[in-house]
Amino acid sequence: MNILAIESSCDDTSAAVIKNGEICSNVVANQLIHQQYGGVVPELASRAHQQNILKVVDQALKDANLTKNDLDAIGFTRGPGLLGSLLVGTSFAKAMALALDIPIIEVHHMHAHVLAHFIEEPKPKFPFLCLTVSGGHTQIVRVDAPDKMVILGQTLDDAVGEAFDKSAKLLGLPYPGGPLIDKYAQSGNPNAFSFPIPEIAELNYSFSGVKTAILYFLQKNVKTDPSFIENNLEDICASIQHSLIKILLQKLKKAAKVTGIKDIAIAGGVSANSGLRKTLTETAEKLGWNVYIPAFEYCTDNAAMIAMSAHFKYLNQEFAEQNISPVARMAF
Ligand code: KG4
Ligand code: ZN
Repeated sequence: MNILAIESSCDDTSAAVIKNGEICSNVVANQLIHQQYGGVVPELASRAHQQNILKVVDQALKDANLTKNDLDAIGFTRGPGLLGSLLVGTSFAKAMALALDIPIIEVHHMHAHVLAHFIEEPKPKFPFLCLTVSGGHTQIVRVDAPDKMVILGQTLDDAVGEAFDKSAKLLGLPYPGGPLIDKYAQSGNPNAFSFPIPEIAELNYSFSGVKTAILYFLQKNVKTDPSFIENNLEDICASIQHSLIKILLQKLKKAAKVTGIKDIAIAGGVSANSGLRKTLTETAEKLGWNVYIPAFEYCTDNAAMIAMSAHFKYLNQEFAEQNISPVARMAF
């Protein structure tokens, strides 16, 4: 059983092939065009997807040693994401499947981030909790089966990835700033500066307050010392990262306690953060958790996770109709 999968929800064009549940290729084309604008420009993203998609799909098939005629189905990200970007991947998948006379499989991008854990060993046992942290989402999900997931808590405003990226922008770092904060934080003091930890009900998150606190903190210090950011970049990054991780872990610990679940996973772009990976591992040792941390290539957006999700749906014979359209906001 060979499935081609396509991911085009934001600014990465990606294609992957899964054969009997094993990933055989995963090609990602990043779009550098957005850097000069300090964020993703939706219209430019859709155009770049159109330029990249054929090459990326072709390479994914080549890497898997397959031709299009060997395919049994095509999976694609239906949402959530940027509508124009999703439209490119969805239309491509539909047209190719129509030409090959094979079924299509719609995939929910956030389910796919969670299911990235089934690409490599060790695979989590059900039920497990997954903290999904990306540029658009921050969710604690209880996963009972590949097709049975419930959101236990989520952000009420900004996503944690946004908090990383917006803080980086205030520091004059290019987009996406999350990985750069991570890089500078490695040689900084996490306790040099402190930022408020929000008090939000239940298992939910909020990151807009801490973002504003960072803005005021920087404005105040730059006023008295114009070189403040330059002279303290590592310490500022380490302190911001420390606060964001503290907020994430606080609710994750609460979720583990409330549910009694000790199998804990992280997923999404921010799960590539070295501080989060380290803190999670240390917390797990203290609390007796089994933790699951994806390989870097499966943290940020990739089609391998879409392929994994499509694989599970193929097993259930869950196919989509040819008249399906992508959706920017998609019910979990
Ligand atoms: O999952 P993803 O690739 O795309 C979305 O679905 O949003 O996540 C992208 C987010 C961006 O906010 C990016 O800055 C963040 O993940 N990110 C990181 C790191 N690598 C990616 N944030 C902190 N540390 C990192 N190492
Ligand atoms: Zn994502």
